[in-house]
Amino acid sequence: MMVCICQNVMFDEIVEAMRELGNDPEAIRKYTDAGRGCSECLKSGCSDVDLPFPDALKAAETVLNRS
Ligand code: FES
Repeated sequence: MMVCICQNVMFDEIVEAMRELGNDPEAIRKYTDAGRGCSECLKSGCSDVDLPFPDALKAAETVLNRS
């Protein structure tokens, strides 16, 4: 699932970043470069991507809590 088109960031990368860095949105954003472009994907509900960054964080947290 695409999180950020401009930087070609996929959901799996958000999960990996959260696994490495913990639930620190700013650190995850810098680590993955998500949002470094048009920044539309930083808005929850953005329909240009599969899973905007704020929603990807919530989903990643759920995935990691299950594992
Ligand atoms: S889609 Fe993420 S910065 Fe443009």
